[in-house]
Amino acid sequence: MPLAAGYEINVSCPNIAAGGAAMGSTPEGASSVMAACRKVTDKPLFVKMAPVNVAEIAKALETAGADGLSVINSIQGMAIDVHTRKSRVAKPKGGLSGPLCHHIAVRMVWEVAQAVDIPINGVGGVMTGEDAAEFILAGATCVSVGMANFVDPCASIKIAHELEAWAESQGVKDINELVGAFEC
Ligand SMILES: Cc1cc2nc3c(=O)[nH]c(=O)nc-3n(C[C@H](O)[C@H](O)[C@H](O)COP(=O)(O)O)c2cc1C
Repeated sequence: MPLAAGYEINVSCPNIAAGGAAMGSTPEGASSVMAACRKVTDKPLFVKMAPVNVAEIAKALETAGADGLSVINSIQGMAIDVHTRKSRVAKPKGGLSGPLCHHIAVRMVWEVAQAVDIPINGVGGVMTGEDAAEFILAGATCVSVGMANFVDPCASIKIAHELEAWAESQGVKDINELVGAFEC
């Protein structure tokens, strides 16, 4: 049995010192990594996108052979301890996850969905089934749950049940009928 059915290429980590997010911040940088990976595997390749210029970079990644896009990686933030005047995390800046990034992520999923035809994995601040449903309506075909697992290790299971209940409440036979069903 293969170890992995496919790969998610991270071109957008904001937390490493040398150029982590930078390589995924331009169409040329992101698609050059994608093209290099495409040459060495036939397995599905998703790209984890930086939260910048997503529509243009998504088009470049689709052209370079991406099978899907994970939208988005965390957004750089800062937190200062006002008593010590030092950063509350290990570096001056760090990746911001969770509910504060959710609505930015929904907007970016929607922008990417307008730009490309490949599947989108919605990522960012999914704490409830409704949060996941927003990504589906914006055009994602699946969602990832990160920070919620630190709050509650059973979060993903609860979110899946809530998402199922929401889909049933919408009167559809298949949740895929709701992908991109946002009404402007
Ligand atoms: C502790 C932690 C570690 C993370 N490590 C990675 C990583 O190695 N690669 C990556 O692409 N994203 C990483 N992320 C970002 C998440 O995959 C995700 O894009 C982001 O946290 C937003 O989703 P969430 O709000 O559901 O956590 C990490 C997030 C957290 C909280």
